[in-house]
Amino acid sequence: CGIVAIVGREPVAPLIVDALKRLEYRGYDSAGVATIENGALDRRRAEGKLVNLVRRIESEPLAGTIGIGHTRWATHGVPNETNAHPHFSGDVAIVHNGIIENFASLREELVADGYAFSSQTDTETVAHLVAKHMKAGKGPVEAAHEALKRLEGAFAIALIFRNEPDLIVAARQGPPLAVGHGEGEMYLGSDAIALSPFTDTITYLEDGDWAVVRRAGVEIFDIDGNTVDRKSQKALSASFSADKGNYRHFMEKEIREQPEVISHALANHVDFTTNRLRPSTLPFNFKDLDRIAISACGTAYLSGLVGKYWFERYARLPVDIDIASEFRYREMPISKKSAAFFISQSGETADTLASLRYCKAAGIPIGAIVNVRDSTIARESDVVLPILAGPEVGVASTKAFTCQLAVLASLAIRAGVERGFLNEEDEKRLIAELAEAPRLATDVLKLDEQINEVARDLSQVDHVLYLGRDTSYPLALEGALKLKEISYIHAEGYAAGELKHGPIALIDESMPVVVIAPHDRIFDKSVSNMQEVAARGGRIILITDEKGKNASATETAETIVLPEVPEIICPIIYALPVQMLAYYTAVHMGTDVDQPRNLAKSVTVE
Ligand code: G6P
Repeated sequence: CGIVAIVGREPVAPLIVDALKRLEYRGYDSAGVATIENGALDRRRAEGKLVNLVRRIESEPLAGTIGIGHTRWATHGVPNETNAHPHFSGDVAIVHNGIIENFASLREELVADGYAFSSQTDTETVAHLVAKHMKAGKGPVEAAHEALKRLEGAFAIALIFRNEPDLIVAARQGPPLAVGHGEGEMYLGSDAIALSPFTDTITYLEDGDWAVVRRAGVEIFDIDGNTVDRKSQKALSASFSADKGNYRHFMEKEIREQPEVISHALANHVDFTTNRLRPSTLPFNFKDLDRIAISACGTAYLSGLVGKYWFERYARLPVDIDIASEFRYREMPISKKSAAFFISQSGETADTLASLRYCKAAGIPIGAIVNVRDSTIARESDVVLPILAGPEVGVASTKAFTCQLAVLASLAIRAGVERGFLNEEDEKRLIAELAEAPRLATDVLKLDEQINEVARDLSQVDHVLYLGRDTSYPLALEGALKLKEISYIHAEGYAAGELKHGPIALIDESMPVVVIAPHDRIFDKSVSNMQEVAARGGRIILITDEKGKNASATETAETIVLPEVPEIICPIIYALPVQMLAYYTAVHMGTDVDQPRNLAKSVTVE
């Protein structure tokens, strides 16, 4: 979810809605705004996308120069208007991002005290809890502080109070919260970008902080009520223009931006005039390490999985790669001679952040491979390796994935050089190969018409299997993930060699199988797997190069022929047809490509 609060000089509802637009990536199943005007609390809420709330406010405007707003990704309670934030109790209004884990016991207690619940959310318990303390005679700030002491779980909260037109109380335990400083106006938002039209002077709350925000400024406290000093800073994130240009969807625009942004990502690490690595910014030398850990979620996890192949191949450095939600609880012993990398487009994913903190507690160096440079994950790392993809708006990640790969490939080469497995000549050759990526990506984008036709067929089926070996295995997983995310077609990705251990049972004439197989040293193994599919009547869609096409010796329903690609950049280049296939399929299906159902771009809950 995304939250906003403003205490200002002009009517705030339009400003809050404007800020919420930039937070829709955090959830979009319902939204709401509450303000205080003439000593009365009022709110507008709407199910579905923010545009529904905008219409609602157009027909029934909200006055008031102080208010809170919310765009929701449902955790507790279905996404309807009743469960939409802000929630009220007596004189208190609240918006909340996160999960109150002890909400059930709090709710029981509050029901016993006579509080009636109008929603199924965990959030409403907080509103009642604060109201209860106020009823017992406490002032709003004290009541909020008392309530906060009782809360377990992860939350970013903003509260306003009916009789207090110059007071917002905010708290952070987990999900991010930024305080924005204006002239006689103060702001709160889930990120600095939300506040970018108003101010670029930002104070980030840290975990356990709570704040009293008034027009004149902010005071920040710890849970014991001691004042804490948090420095304000200039936000790094540029305001992004929510402009699709001539594209139908942000996802299409972001797919097409890849040649350019991949070259930015690479140029930060390698010098293409000399084909040498730029000086390292890492606080360690790879030769001193015995292994590294990589942890991430979703598409970022899959880029890390490609990274594992690279680090092990080019640097003989073992990699433990984990899905962050597993890593954080599986109690992995950490070698003192290791380092950890966390990959996250948003830099805010709760599970990835928790994994980072686990490694930090073990005392090893932490690197953040992030897109949002002033995100929590970036701020808590020892070194930030920005992917420089520019703002990614489409919920399904595309250019962030290939830019993550570009950074990981550069890092793997650095590791190889530092560990003595690559000599100067290898370094130059591999970097010259990386330099080919933007040009080859541009060539692949020209296959759009053919891929669109293949997608037309895919949009007719219910299930798709993706197969790949080596670095094409993570791409098979990514292809399946992308397709199910945006087209809602059931898809699975498998290591091609695993086909015979289960998924082969699914194959019949109605099951398309996308095989991702550049003509590499194990191409023949993939051919064997294709033969197994063909022998059972499966329809093969082969993504390969000219040599692969000639050598496949298997009847395919479609062959998408890519240019020949140096081995190291195969996963970067082959990511594009995989993304395009999912994109065009979703377009044929008529789904909401940029904001698919049930998903959010940044997930700050477990
Ligand atoms: C969500 C998004 C995915 C993304 C994942 C990890 O599930 O929908 O596209 O890969 O979160 O997000 P992060 O910001 O950490 O890369």
